[in-house]
Amino acid sequence: MKAVVWHGEGDIRLDSIDDPSIVEATDAIVKVTRSAICGTDLHFVRGTMGPMQEGTVLGHEAVGVVQEVGRAVRGFSPGDRVIVNSTVSCGVCAQCRAGHTAQCDVANPNGPQAGTSFFGGPASTGPWNGLQSEYVRVPWAQNTLTPIPANVSDDQAILLSDILPTAWFGAELAGVRPGDTVAVYGAGVVGQLAIASAWKLGAARVIAVDHEQDRLAQARAQNAEVIDFDSEDPVQVIQDLTLGSGVDAVIDAVGVDAQHPTSGPAAPSAEEAAAFRSEVEQVAPGARPEGDLWVPGNAPSQASQWAVETVAKYGRIGIIGVYAPTVTSYPIGAAMLKNLTIRMGNCDHHTVTRPLLDLVATGAFDPLPFITQREGTTSAIDAYQHFDRRDAGWLKTVLDVA
Ligand SMILES: NC(=O)c1ccc[n+]([C@@H]2O[C@H](COP(=O)([O-])OP(=O)(O)OC[C@H]3O[C@@H](n4cnc5c(N)ncnc54)[C@H](O)[C@@H]3O)[C@@H](O)[C@H]2O)c1
Ligand SMILES: [Zn+2]
Ligand SMILES: [Zn+2]
Repeated sequence: MKAVVWHGEGDIRLDSIDDPSIVEATDAIVKVTRSAICGTDLHFVRGTMGPMQEGTVLGHEAVGVVQEVGRAVRGFSPGDRVIVNSTVSCGVCAQCRAGHTAQCDVANPNGPQAGTSFFGGPASTGPWNGLQSEYVRVPWAQNTLTPIPANVSDDQAILLSDILPTAWFGAELAGVRPGDTVAVYGAGVVGQLAIASAWKLGAARVIAVDHEQDRLAQARAQNAEVIDFDSEDPVQVIQDLTLGSGVDAVIDAVGVDAQHPTSGPAAPSAEEAAAFRSEVEQVAPGARPEGDLWVPGNAPSQASQWAVETVAKYGRIGIIGVYAPTVTSYPIGAAMLKNLTIRMGNCDHHTVTRPLLDLVATGAFDPLPFITQREGTTSAIDAYQHFDRRDAGWLKTVLDVA
């Protein structure tokens, strides 16, 4: 079968590999009908998160049809339409039973302290072969699959494999409640869905920060008040917009590949730029950019700094942008001075997805407008390159695998 395979930083290929088969009784084999490329995948190719094991199939977002189930999988049958949750979880351990399925004690082969286990990630997360392939072995299938209601299409469901639940989870981590003014850093597709989630949770105002014009336009189309950080200083503008108090809640949907402004009043001083450069050296020592491709973010802590500076005293920050274990800089002192609450993490997909699926099934939440590109599997590498360069219009690519 065809699959997108990680060979090294800056080196991904569409390879032919063997079809997967059932290994454990708790496995299922799913024929993938849709997959998708996520901002998280870019971290692995840019070298800002790892280490990856060569040969790992990339991707952690898919929907498909169950082909075969192991004998311990009692609740699914061949032919069922399913979402494959990005994160793998057993459903049995104490963490899973508390709903914390991204911190399952059992699913990660590296042991209970290794943290989140997910498809297509670094060695420390499994590694499990990912979902940008024609077939996939799903471990702990009873908990890692979510059934798709008949009136929800594959295109709607693919956005519930990771990004809509993650965005919603981010709004919950930030404690968004009715009346809040919320700032969302990053207007990639996760940021866009975080804006939508903040509105659904009753936010009164949403402010979106990025510097990609098409993404800011899409945020404005959702009625967010937008700030282009290459022409305005987000800290100053947010102060002006909130009578100096700052926002009640921040959702960080940027992560480790954060960038600093290259122009405008918020561009870093020479000293600040040097500090960012040493962060990049620490985070991505093996990065191998090729021209403008696979370039790591030049300021890993930029979004964290702005989040802390622009949130109100006693404010709340929810971090869903992914930061690798190599990131050690966070403005903790400034946060302390403001009595902030900061929560973060990988989405507990198994727990978060089902209620959202109901919102989609009833028409209360339509994720379809957030798919901006469709590609066949054969053009997957091309699609990665457009997405990596943040080419206009490449917000979210769904791979038509079937
Ligand atoms: N926690 C989870 O479970 C989970 C799940 C999925 C994705 N993620 C993470 O969410 C993040 C966003 O994913 P995506 O698919 O939208 O990625 P993306 O790369 O498409 O979007 C990131 C956006 O951030 C913007 N940006 C860069 N520096 C910025 C700054 N200083 N301030 C504001 N915006 C800035 C970029 O221009 C880009 O539009 C990634 O880090 C991804 O790994 C986390
Ligand atoms: Zn994802
Ligand atoms: Zn578990």
